Amino acid sequence: MSNLYVMQHPLIKHKVTMMRDKDTTSKDFRELLTEISLLMGYEVTRDLPLQEIEIETPMCVTKQPVLSGRSIGIVPILRAGLGMVDGILSLVPSAKVGHIGCYRDHDTKKPVEYYCKLPVDAEQREIIVVDPMLATGGSAAMAIDFIKEKGVKNIKFMCLIAAPEGVKALQEAHPDVDIYTASLDERLDENCYILPGLGDAGDRLFGTK
Ligand code: PRP
Ligand code: URA
Repeated sequence: MSNLYVMQHPLIKHKVTMMRDKDTTSKDFRELLTEISLLMGYEVTRDLPLQEIEIETPMCVTKQPVLSGRSIGIVPILRAGLGMVDGILSLVPSAKVGHIGCYRDHDTKKPVEYYCKLPVDAEQREIIVVDPMLATGGSAAMAIDFIKEKGVKNIKFMCLIAAPEGVKALQEAHPDVDIYTASLDERLDENCYILPGLGDAGDRLFGTK
């Protein structure tokens, strides 16, 4: 079974609370999401492999660590996942970015895929799939299905708010994919929205409602 990492840093907790507030503007919502993604990116990249290289400081020749091995790919689930890309990119500017378009049908609550474009060398990268909301888990599980179909083996999922139902569903569908979330909320409501949650992340991010 995969690991679930729930962020405990006070800066992250504070910013998530500000995002939940219904009076927070789209501008502030976007900025907060970028800031939290950057802070979470620090945790998500914690196990990146290092190798020693020889460099020369003004004082002497020395062996020091640099990143080695697999590079990173970031794959936001459209639309709302776009809001988490810049924060991680500011930590790992060389990361490539793929996109998966997937929306949840209002009636069936099931995800519908409409777009998929990944980096050509995706299977050689560690892929971080990002989406602020993990509700039923349907969208994340479907997105990760597509990514695995392209031969990708190393995948992590990073979200802002997860419902226990979504965590369970994603862990069952993809037991090899670790989940990183800023908050584990209480439950889903009858419309499969997260409680207390923050409402519709895409609409709040882009000001469409
Ligand atoms: C939201 C959210 C996730 C999905 C989560 O997207 O950004 O992608 O719902 O729900 P699930 O875990 O039950 O699948 P939405 O379908 O509203 O699309 P949007 O980002 O285009 O607004
Ligand atoms: N999608 C959202 O944007 N919010 C929820 O609470 C659930 C799914």
